[in-house]
Amino acid sequence: MRKPFVAGNWKMNLDLAGARSLVAGIVEGLGGSSKIDVAICPPSIYLFPMAKAIVESTVAMGAQNCWSAPSGAFTGEVSAAMVKETGCRYVILGHSERRNTIGPRDSNGNIAGESNDMIAAKVRAVFDNEMIPIVCVGETLAQRDANETESVLTSQLAGSLASVKAEEASKLVVAYEPVWAIGTGRTATSAQAQAAHAHIRGQLVERFGADVANAIRIQYGGSVKPDNARELMSCPDVDGALVGGASLKPADFVGIINETIQAKDL
Ligand code: PGA
Repeated sequence: MRKPFVAGNWKMNLDLAGARSLVAGIVEGLGGSSKIDVAICPPSIYLFPMAKAIVESTVAMGAQNCWSAPSGAFTGEVSAAMVKETGCRYVILGHSERRNTIGPRDSNGNIAGESNDMIAAKVRAVFDNEMIPIVCVGETLAQRDANETESVLTSQLAGSLASVKAEEASKLVVAYEPVWAIGTGRTATSAQAQAAHAHIRGQLVERFGADVANAIRIQYGGSVKPDNARELMSCPDVDGALVGGASLKPADFVGIINETIQAKDL
């Protein structure tokens, strides 16, 4: 049995007072429940204060990114070891906003964001520092319309997970986040989500074997809200959610957690 896992990706939102009150609301709303795994992923500058705020709660913490090298001349970056020191258990890697949005533009206006190779190097750093990577994959609308969803997922998984060792693979978390559903209010249908998750699991079976692949949690992300969470989380290969916008409101985030508990009959 895979323990469902709901994580809140705060992105670059909230001031420190707002972050503190959000955490307080989440901790109170959960009331110590640990039926599923729950994590918050604040901006890196807030990791230390948020670690204090979740002490003695069932909420874990993740970072939204880290750098692959252990130290050195990487102005503005934070290493996996630094992230670990704040108390993080997880690190989100390869989010589409980093793959497709953040980075220099070439003369044609195309963005050279994070590559699969960069993500694989970060995955290695995260595992080497005894944390768990949440590796995001997902197709754009143009790719879906061109029937490329499965091939995009296949190549993102092959590249981004190239550095994963067999003995650590069962701890991995994959997040399927169709780019067209992120922050748009447009959610994948449960059939679309299940089909993509089943494809991802099939790739994981090929790479790591069935036992390991069946232990890997695959989150769905993209406009998850309390009112669509139950249906999405009922899909057999959907093991939780990576929540953006709705993770910034305690009632919505706790609502999604409770819907997941209901959907999985826990
Ligand atoms: P969203 O973001 O829930 O606001 O669509 C999800 C994500 O980007 O992780």
